[in-house]
Amino acid sequence: MKRVLIDCDPGIDDALALILAVKSGGMAIEAITTVTGNLTADRCYRNARKVLALLGADPIPMGQGPLKPLIRPFPSDPFSHGADGLGNTNLPEPDLPASIPYAPNVIVETVNRCAGDITLIATGPLTNVALALMQDPDLPKKVSQLIIIGGAFGFDRSAALNATGDNPVSEWNIYVDPEAAKLVFHAGFALSALGLDVATHHDINLLEPEIDHLKAATTPEAKFALGIIAFTTGRGFGTYTALIDSTAIAAALYPELFDFTTIHVDIETQGELTRGETVTDIRSNFRWTHLPAINAARGADFDAFRNLVVTTLCQ
Ligand code: RIB
Ligand code: CA
Repeated sequence: MKRVLIDCDPGIDDALALILAVKSGGMAIEAITTVTGNLTADRCYRNARKVLALLGADPIPMGQGPLKPLIRPFPSDPFSHGADGLGNTNLPEPDLPASIPYAPNVIVETVNRCAGDITLIATGPLTNVALALMQDPDLPKKVSQLIIIGGAFGFDRSAALNATGDNPVSEWNIYVDPEAAKLVFHAGFALSALGLDVATHHDINLLEPEIDHLKAATTPEAKFALGIIAFTTGRGFGTYTALIDSTAIAAALYPELFDFTTIHVDIETQGELTRGETVTDIRSNFRWTHLPAINAARGADFDAFRNLVVTTLCQ
């Protein structure tokens, strides 16, 4: 069992990623924290609890992060996750505890309790991870791996066509809090990034027989997933929008499904047109090797990934 902490912003695709993580049977989820990204962290917290209640999951320690990025105002998202942030699936309202722990504290405490055997999975902006890092600068040494959904690295045209930040060259999680991302990228984590190149690749989109399989299933989570798919395809988007964050869970469970390569990359924080761009240097000459080195996914066994998601939702 892989011990993980999931920092997320549910959000439709984070919700399916949580389902995959809980139902996979391959993860010991030590904590779930929510970060301001698709919605403010308090709304994401409620949505994470809604999803756990849907699954009847055992109680999992949770935390909630600040309601804005480190420095900038919280930007408006051109992509909507619906009135409830879960594709208008209207799951029942969750019970809330009297007090909710602060996400960066939960991250620091969990990592120190599990030091050396904990994978951080961040499927939202890196605000909470950056705040945890400021509390405990040794975090990267104690974390086995940091897997993020973030960036776009030039491996596939899908990343440009499906750019999720509110400009032509960025991905939403990095775009929301580029200063947090810059801190995290420079901190020395063993960082693996699933960028839009893979997470929005054309072959991520579910095939009709796979959607039919969901329709034939009787699990509440399969019906929930179909509600999310109807919400996003009903607005003209591909089903990839529901599956982006599940690539991070799949990469933690089955890294062999993904083709990672080491690249040198840094985060644009000053650009007027390029806020949040992950700038990758692949030049044959004069390459900036001083940029942070990370592992970025450049491909995947997409058939196996889709099969993992659909099978897990239906079982
Ligand atoms: O760019 C896509 C990412 O931003 C996904 O994690 C989505 O949930 C949003 O957080
Ligand atoms: Ca997310």
